[in-house]
Amino acid sequence: MVENHAKFGIQKLDDYLGGGLNRHSENLIIGRSGIGKTILAAHWAAEGARNGETVVYLSTTMNKNVAKNYLKRFPFMEDVYEKIHWRFIRVDPKFLLPLTREKIVEGLKFTFGMDGEDIDRVVFDSCTDLEKTLADPVLYRRAITYMADLSYEYGITSLWVEEAPMKGEWSDTKNITESVIFLDLLRVSEGYTRALRILKKYGSKIPLEWIPYDITENGIEIKDGFLVRREYEYEFKCD
Ligand SMILES: Nc1ncnc2c1ncn2[C@@H]1O[C@H](COP(=O)(O)OP(=O)(O)O)[C@@H](O)[C@H]1O
Ligand SMILES: [Mg+2]
Repeated sequence: MVENHAKFGIQKLDDYLGGGLNRHSENLIIGRSGIGKTILAAHWAAEGARNGETVVYLSTTMNKNVAKNYLKRFPFMEDVYEKIHWRFIRVDPKFLLPLTREKIVEGLKFTFGMDGEDIDRVVFDSCTDLEKTLADPVLYRRAITYMADLSYEYGITSLWVEEAPMKGEWSDTKNITESVIFLDLLRVSEGYTRALRILKKYGSKIPLEWIPYDITENGIEIKDGFLVRREYEYEFKCD
């Protein structure tokens, strides 16, 4: 039985998202290196597996041993690690170019090693490698659009993970996804704190504030309250 929303299994975050991610949609986690993207995506994958769903985790950055040593020790992952279909891939231009829809379809089928119809959740960690390999925003946009079409066709809920550049524009992934979760470090009086913002989520009212979180041996823990700026430029006047 597949639940209405694709939850993270992190109560506060699921609540803020109006229940979780929308089924059969594309979603994005974006942030700089080391901020917590892989751990957050792993929560989501584990929650699917715990719920009896078929989950594929595509990783371009880890290998089998790294993933297991790193992620299996989190309590949320321990029992379900072996149920997730881990796929460790290297994105190679020679398999992708010239880019066609057929190549993407064949490439994904081969990588999944199973029928698209049987898959409920896919994590793609990270699509930055695909973007760098294609090295062209138009090609990249086409590739992700093909992949989005496919997951819609097969009824898959996808979570894309993207490395945010230190400087400059984000890629086009944010435009094709129904929700975007941005992880960042915020400067506070005591130093820095980890915080996330839900930049968009189709169909739900979302908090506009930064949501503080911690990473512990239990994984991502959402803290109470919000972070708001100390100064503001505008105020309401009504006369
Ligand atoms: N067991 C742990 N306890 C506390 N913090 C951890 C633990 N494991 C990882 N972290 C923190 O998580 C960060 C990496 O998270 P990760 O999701 O891999 O980042 P990325 O955004 O690069 O995918 C590390 O920088 C580290 O600070
Ligand atoms: Mg990562």
